[in-house]
Amino acid sequence: MLPLVVAGGVVTVIMGFILVVLLISWFSNPPFGLGNAPPQPVAFPHTVHVADNNIQCEFCHRNVTKGEAATVPAVESCLFCHQEIDGGSSTTSANSQAEIQKVRDAFDSETPIDWERVHRLPDHVRFIHESHIRYFTDDDPTKKYGINGEELKETLDVALTCTICHGDVGNKTVVQPKTGQSLKMGTCLDCHRNNNVPTDCTVCHK
Ligand code: HEC
Ligand code: HEC
Ligand code: HEC
Ligand code: HEC
Ligand code: HEC
Repeated sequence: MLPLVVAGGVVTVIMGFILVVLLISWFSNPPFGLGNAPPQPVAFPHTVHVADNNIQCEFCHRNVTKGEAATVPAVESCLFCHQEIDGGSSTTSANSQAEIQKVRDAFDSETPIDWERVHRLPDHVRFIHESHIRYFTDDDPTKKYGINGEELKETLDVALTCTICHGDVGNKTVVQPKTGQSLKMGTCLDCHRNNNVPTDCTVCHK
């Protein structure tokens, strides 16, 4: 009798532990697409750069067509333009000059800008930007399907491929996960199934 009670206790403790771990990971890591935008150290508007000045996504997110992470640009790449452009003639925002000055100060003092991550998957999940961008921008005749299972009638360019998962970032002043897609495991799986991509656990989990 006693060993059974002890075994029951152990099982309860283990179940409790799993529940706590799941709850912690749920609340510390809001599901992709449901969290609020974190405050950023510099008010960087995608609108001004992409929609108004036509700068390509991959000019700043240099690794996005090459590897796993898209990467956020280093201060040096901002100075490529902001050495000259000081925001003095900006009509888009009263704070342009002050915000651009922050970027110049960071460069002068050699301190990186600590951008807050907006989208982050748990550590046990693997995601590779490069293979997704390559697949959707490749004009081979294979039928391709978007995030809601809709058939894509034409080959997408790089910027349009980003909108599949991130929404219309180029027309947003703040990157809001809420305006993009909610990338829960089910969303990844649905799109993989629709496009005949393997869905074994080990494709995405390390
Ligand atoms: C002039 C440089 C620049 C260009 C061009 C640019 N971005 Fe960004 N992007 C940034 C910076 C800086 C951040 C970090 C600050 C922030 O989150 O707003 C960022 C953040 C992001 C994020 C959120 C990253 C995270 O933390 O999860 C996404 C998604 C993104 N950009 C997509 C795009 C897309 C799509 C395009 C093209 C339509 C684009 N960006 C063009 C500089 C740029
Ligand atoms: C290819 C050129 C280019 C690059 C690279 C670039 N910017 Fe800009 N940025 C501009 C232009 C053009 C404006 C508009 C300035 C104006 O209207 O006076 C601007 C405006 C801004 C503004 C003011 C926004 C507003 O509301 O008017 C901020 C802040 C800014 N940039 C930050 C950054 C940061 C941070 C980076 C690096 C991650 C960066 N920029 C990289 C061209 C660039
Ligand atoms: C198939 C969905 C998907 C597409 C398409 C996609 N992303 Fe992402 N992106 C994600 C996911 C998922 C994350 C979070 C990755 C992580 O936490 O490991 C992310 C994170 C990011 C980040 C922040 C972290 C990093 O990787 O540096 C940036 C910036 C970004 N994406 C930009 C882009 C741009 C620019 C494009 C288009 C060229 C793009 N993404 C296309 C799903 C996508
Ligand atoms: C819009 C459709 C779509 C969504 C959403 C999507 N994927 Fe994919 N994924 C693909 C396609 C298509 C491929 C195959 C690309 C190829 O042929 O190389 C792929 C391939 C992969 C690969 C294998 C890459 C390699 O080169 O080994 C991983 C890992 C992956 N996806 C993870 C994810 C994760 C994690 C998510 C959710 C956060 C996700 N994907 C969401 C369409 C999608
Ligand atoms: C196409 C990519 C993909 C595949 C394949 C996949 N997963 Fe996931 N999985 C994810 C992503 C992204 C998350 C994180 C987001 C979430 O919790 O929905 C996740 C989260 C999880 C979690 C929750 C862990 C936590 O942090 O709360 C479990 C458990 C899990 N996956 C198990 C599995 C198992 C078992 C399989 C195989 C049958 C599998 N996954 C296949 C992408 C994938």
